[in-house]
Parts: sequence; C-alpha cells; structure tokens
Amino acid sequence: MIDDLELVTLDEAAQIVGKTTHNIRDYIQRGRINKYNKNGELILKASNGDLRVSLKELKIFLSLVEIGEEKHHHAGLHPELGFYNLPEHQRTKHVHRLHPYLGKFIPQLVEWFLQRYFMPDAIILDPFMGSGTTLVQGNEMGMHTIGIDISPFNCLIAKVKTDKYNCEKARTEILEVERRVKTFSQYLTHSPAVNLLLFPDEKMEGLQESLLSECQSDYLHSWFAPRTLLEMLYYRRLIPHYYYQDLLKIVLSRAVRSSRLIPHYDLATPKAPLPVGEQYWCRKHNRFCTPIDNCIEKIHAYSEDTARRITEFDGLRSDKTVTIIQGDSRSIQLNEHYPDVLGNRLIDGIFTSPPYVGQIDYHDQHIYAYELFGFPRQDESEIGPKKSGKSKLAQNKYVEGIAEVFRNILPFVKPDGTIFIVANDRFDLYPEIARLSGMFIQEEFHRAVTKRTEQGNDPYQETIFMLKKEHK
Ligand SMILES: C[S@@+](CC[C@H](N)C(=O)[O-])C[C@H]1O[C@@H](n2cnc3c(N)ncnc32)[C@H](O)[C@@H]1O
Repeated sequence: MIDDLELVTLDEAAQIVGKTTHNIRDYIQRGRINKYNKNGELILKASNGDLRVSLKELKIFLSLVEIGEEKHHHAGLHPELGFYNLPEHQRTKHVHRLHPYLGKFIPQLVEWFLQRYFMPDAIILDPFMGSGTTLVQGNEMGMHTIGIDISPFNCLIAKVKTDKYNCEKARTEILEVERRVKTFSQYLTHSPAVNLLLFPDEKMEGLQESLLSECQSDYLHSWFAPRTLLEMLYYRRLIPHYYYQDLLKIVLSRAVRSSRLIPHYDLATPKAPLPVGEQYWCRKHNRFCTPIDNCIEKIHAYSEDTARRITEFDGLRSDKTVTIIQGDSRSIQLNEHYPDVLGNRLIDGIFTSPPYVGQIDYHDQHIYAYELFGFPRQDESEIGPKKSGKSKLAQNKYVEGIAEVFRNILPFVKPDGTIFIVANDRFDLYPEIARLSGMFIQEEFHRAVTKRTEQGNDPYQETIFMLKKEHK
C-alpha cells in the first residue's frame, strides 16, 4: 500500500526532515534510501516529475545516522525486505492470526530466506520459536521444522497452528461450544421470569456459584467484568468434553484477551483494568467507548474465523514433521527430541528471532492465559526480559544467554549449515554473540519495519544476520 510508504517529493522530504533537496539526492545516490514512482513502485530511473521517496525510510535512515549505526553497517535498506505493499491480511494469513503475539515476524520474511537458501525436505530449527511463524512457513514449503520455546503458552499457540486436523470435526466442535456458551450467556442476561420460560428444563441453578468457586485468580476477578468472567469460566469447563482441546483453548484465550476491561487501543500492553461501564476517550475509534462486558461477542468473532483459518492452512500444508519442544534453548538436549523420521540427519539451517534486550516479557504478555489455564510459568528462564532492563549489565547477560543457546544447538547443525538471526541490534551485540558461539557473520541484510500489527507504528530498522559455523 502506498500509504505505508508515505511517498513524498524530494522537496517535500527535505522540508519535513530539515535537510536540503541536495542532501536527499545524495542519500538516493549512495543507495541509503530507495527511489519510487508515484505509484509506490521501486524504480531505477525516474521520468520527469515522477520521483518520490518514502518518508518512513528516510526517517529510519536519519535516526540510524544519529545513533551512529549507519556508518557501522555501511549498508542501505534492502528494497525487497520492507514488504511495504503487502496488505495486512497477507501478513496475518491463515493460521498466523490464530492468536495475537507481541514480537512475531511476518511469514513473508521467513519465506524470502527459506526459498533462497534451503531446499524442500531440509530441516529448519527455530530455537526462539515464539508463536511458530518459522514452523508454519517452513512446513508450507515442504521442510521439516523444529521449534523450541521457554514459554508453555507460546508452545501451545505454535502447536495449535501446526497440528493436523479433521477440519470438519474441529469446526463442529468449535461451533458447538460457541452455541452452548451463547445459551449460557442468554441465561445470564435475561430476567428470572424470562429464564423460567426459556430454560424450564435447564439445570442452571447454582451454576454461577460453582463456576466462580473454580476461579481463585485475583487477576481474572479484577481484569474482567462479572458476566465476562462467568462466560469464560463456562467455556473452560466445556473444553474437556471435546477432542480438539488445545484448539478450543486457543479460541477461548484469544476471546479472553480481547474481553479484558481495557481500552480498545491498548490490547497489547494494558497497564490496569478500567472500571466496568466507565467511558473513556478511545484513540482507536475516535469517540467515547466503554470497556467490553462480555466474552461471547469475541467467542463468536473468533470461532468461525479459527475454523476457516485452520481449513485454509490444511490445504497448503505439507506432511513434513513438525517438532515443538518446550524448554530452555540453552540446555535442551536436542538429540532426545529428534523425531524418529529424522534419524541421524543434521539440521540444515536456523531461522530465528531471539528476544531483544529489555523489550518484552514473553510470559507476561499472555498473563490472562496463564491465569485461566494454570500453565506453569518459566519467566526466570527468559533471556533478555523487559523487567531486567537494557543496562550494560543486562546487555552482558543477554549476550552470554544467546551465545549459550547457539553453543548448545550448533553441534546438531551441518558444518556448512546457514544460520539466520533477525535482530534489532541497536546495541551492536551480535558480532560478540557470533564470536562467543563459534560463528562468523557472512552477510547482513537490513530491512525497514514500518508497520507492525501489535506494537504501534513507529518505524525501526531490523538486521537479518546470515552466519556460518567457524571451523577450527
Ligand atoms: C522474538 S520472540 C520469537 C517470535 C517468533 N519469531 C514468532 O514469529 O512468533 C522470542 C521468543 O524467545 C523465547 N525465549 C526467551 N528466552 C528463551 C530461552 N531461554 N529458551 C527458549 N526460548 C526463549 C520467548 O519466549 C519468545 O517467545
């Protein structure tokens, strides 16, 4: 989409960023920013009056110059890796949108590299699997995939995305649970007199008390309206009666996330719950809104959607193995988890995006799911969590942690295997990480990240390091 690029003429660009037109021409000539025509297509030569630059790219470039990184890398932004024209529905296609996840990369980025550097049937490992983007994309391209993540909930998301389903049965189950919760929701909202007429035979008496007795979590009691809480607890109680329990957990979790007592514009990083029914100025909708007071609306929104998405992926997926391992990548014994089918084969390559220093608490972002399902949390084993900050000490710990991961897994990678690491390396830590892990950086690709689904729209730059194993 052209809007994403924020196309401007050279004069306009110069005026906005406080440079001269001559400066802007110079950046173009040195390949620091790209040339576009009015339609947002990359061009080599502009016809008269047609030349445009992207304000977003220009701002990223200038911010890099400011912090001195641009000089260090001696590289411009890779024109194909910005994916500016990719519509939202493509970036979040089929199972990639089964559950929100802060900090995931887009499947097209994975595809770009896997396609160029690996053959079908290759074995690809992601030691920081997150929500499983590498696994889904790799599987779609006929590759065996292995993913490791410390967070049990992230492993559940990845498992649900990559599981093989009888799609008709899965759909029937999802819609049946939705229907049952909807009936319960009607019961909650009608007056006793109406309920007597509508549910003469239903055993609803005492149900609410018994559901609430199953919920000891202060978090759940304070972040959800009373009706929302009852609906989600009822859904949770139904899950054990079905075959696709993990899938149902993900539908419920996604609905619960959107049903918290929080402003519509702050789903990713809410600070505190709002009082039930309190109006607030909504930056997303540009009007006064009230926080949602039920869960069934979102259950309805995500039920059919989930069934459609797994069916779509079912038509694209391959039958290659997908292995998901929950654990700490610094110490996991990979050989113990190898599926039989891979036998003694070594891993062909790695495609991964480690946590960045002090950016995200990966367990905390899904706290609602941990509280609802009681998954065991492993926060203390997260590398580079937000709560540890970005101090020099935190950076050193991070470097040691990431290097430990690679030292642990590289023995399972082919001697000439290729390792791709996607990182926002603003502290310039990866050269040292590579050295400590016994790898060398062969190439760096730089890409502008102008649009993110979960983290706001401030553009930043990301590096894809391509590394090889050092041979002693
Ligand atoms: C940037 S995210 C990966 C996102 C992923 N590329 C995606 O598209 O969903 C980094 C992941 O590393 C995981 N992680 C952090 N410390 C870890 C550790 N010690 N072992 C394994 N995984 C860890 C986090 O739980 C998080 O899911």
